[in-house]
Amino acid sequence: MMTKLSVNINKIATLRNARGNNLPNLLQVAIDCEKYGAQGITVHPRPDERHITYRDVYELKSIVTTEFNIEGFPNTKFIQLVLAIKPKQVTLVPDPPGVLTSNAGWDTLKQKDFLKEVIAEFKAAKIRTSIFVDTEIVTIENAVATGTDRIEFYTGPYADNFTKNKEEAIAPFVKAAILANQLGLGVNAGHDLNLANLSYFKNNISGLLEVSIGHALICDSLYFGLENTIQKYLACLH
Ligand code: PXP
Repeated sequence: MMTKLSVNINKIATLRNARGNNLPNLLQVAIDCEKYGAQGITVHPRPDERHITYRDVYELKSIVTTEFNIEGFPNTKFIQLVLAIKPKQVTLVPDPPGVLTSNAGWDTLKQKDFLKEVIAEFKAAKIRTSIFVDTEIVTIENAVATGTDRIEFYTGPYADNFTKNKEEAIAPFVKAAILANQLGLGVNAGHDLNLANLSYFKNNISGLLEVSIGHALICDSLYFGLENTIQKYLACLH
C-alpha cells in the first residue's frame, strides 16, 4: 500500500524568520516540494508564530495542490484558522504552551470529551481529522471514541531507540498499528523520522497511510538538495 510523504515546512519558516525578509520563500518551497514528488504539505502554526505564521497558512491555502495538513493544539484561534482554510486534514497535537517541539501524544482517556467536541466540529466541515498519539493500547482504544478518522503515531521514541535495538524500537508501534487497523482508524506517523529509520518503519507498520517529516528532511536537503532529498525519502516509502 502507498504511504504518502507530507513535508513539514516549519523549518523553512524558521530560517526565513531569522532575517525578517522573505528568504527562503516559503510558498515557493511548498510549490517545489510538490513538484519534486511530495504528496502533502504540513504546517504547524504555534501560538507565538515563531515559525509558520497564521498569514503563511492563509497564503498556502491557494498554493498547495496536494494534501494540506495543518497541525496544532486546538485552541479557539487554531480552530477558527482551520475552519477558515478547510485543509484536507487537521492533526491535533497536545502541545503545552512554550514547548520546543511536540513531545508526547494525547491522553485520549482524560481528553476524550474535549477531543470529541473539537473533532465533531472539524468533521462537520468535512475536514479529515487525525490525533497525535503514543502507542499504549488504552490510548488507541479510546482514540476510537473521539470519532477521529486517523491517528498519528508520535515516533520520537522509535527514532531514539532505533539505533540501539530496532526490533525493540518498532515492537510497540507494530502492535498499536494492528489494533488501530482493526478498530478502523487510519494510521499516520511523524517525528524524528529520517533516511536511516524510515524504510524499516514503513516495512513493519501495516496500513501506514502518511508520514509527515520536517527536521531531518530539511537538514538532508542542505547536503543533497531538496529535489534529491525528497526522492530519497520517497524511495524509503516504496
Ligand atoms: N508530527 C507532528 C505532530 C509534529 O509536531 C512534528 C514536528 O513539528 C512532526 C510530525 C515532524 O517532526 P520532524 O520535524 O521531527 O520530522
